[in-house]
Amino acid sequence: MEKDFLDSLIPKRSDFLTELRRKSALEESYAPIVQKETEQLIVTLLKLKKPKRVLEIGTAVGYSAILMADNLPEDSQIITIERYKKHADIAVDNIFEAGYEKKIRVIEGEAAEVLCWLDGGFDFVFLDAAKGQYIEFLPDIMRLLNPGGILLSDNILYKGMVEDEEKVVHRKVTIVKRLRMYLEEIMNNPSLTTSIIPIGDGVALSVKNERK
Ligand SMILES: C[S@@+](CC[C@H](N)C(=O)[O-])C[C@H]1O[C@@H](n2cnc3c(N)ncnc32)[C@H](O)[C@@H]1O
Repeated sequence: MEKDFLDSLIPKRSDFLTELRRKSALEESYAPIVQKETEQLIVTLLKLKKPKRVLEIGTAVGYSAILMADNLPEDSQIITIERYKKHADIAVDNIFEAGYEKKIRVIEGEAAEVLCWLDGGFDFVFLDAAKGQYIEFLPDIMRLLNPGGILLSDNILYKGMVEDEEKVVHRKVTIVKRLRMYLEEIMNNPSLTTSIIPIGDGVALSVKNERK
């Protein structure tokens, strides 16, 4: 009830994104897309930070990439990584239809492999891929993120399982363990300042500290 009320306050997106969200909810083969509260946080952070280069890990069908493109300065660029060919192909079509083919580059591949060869200088990273791999991606993300840059990690509370042992279902034990390790790391890493925000499925908002 409370969540419905908060969601009802979130401004309506473009017709294109509204339709893509509706389709994503109906289409079983699509991956889940970002929750509305988290989406609003992303938009707010983009307005604040005005990043020139954005990296997304986990494109799905391109919803969050298009949302970010809608809310970035004219000359900004987005690179988004997706390992599942079917999703990457649909994302490329959606991005073309939204008119952002010059602004958003979809790289099809396993993120751990793509991150290795990407060059640095990102101001904003949205991490929204396999939750059990976040800890594995972190060293490359740290290399790629500019000082003062933002890392937003989604689903870090993972349906309440990360906080509450009683909610952990057997087949998710390893993911939950790894997410807890990830949270320990980003909370205590001296190069990051992190706040955990319990909206949506839980997000961690981290800033890469400027060198002293
Ligand atoms: C939750 S969905 C992303 C939703 C998208 N960010 C949005 O809000 O519109 C996660 C996506 O990440 C992809 N993915 C998961 N693990 C990955 C990995 N290791 N490398 C690349 N893509 C990955 C999945 O195939 C899936 O399409």
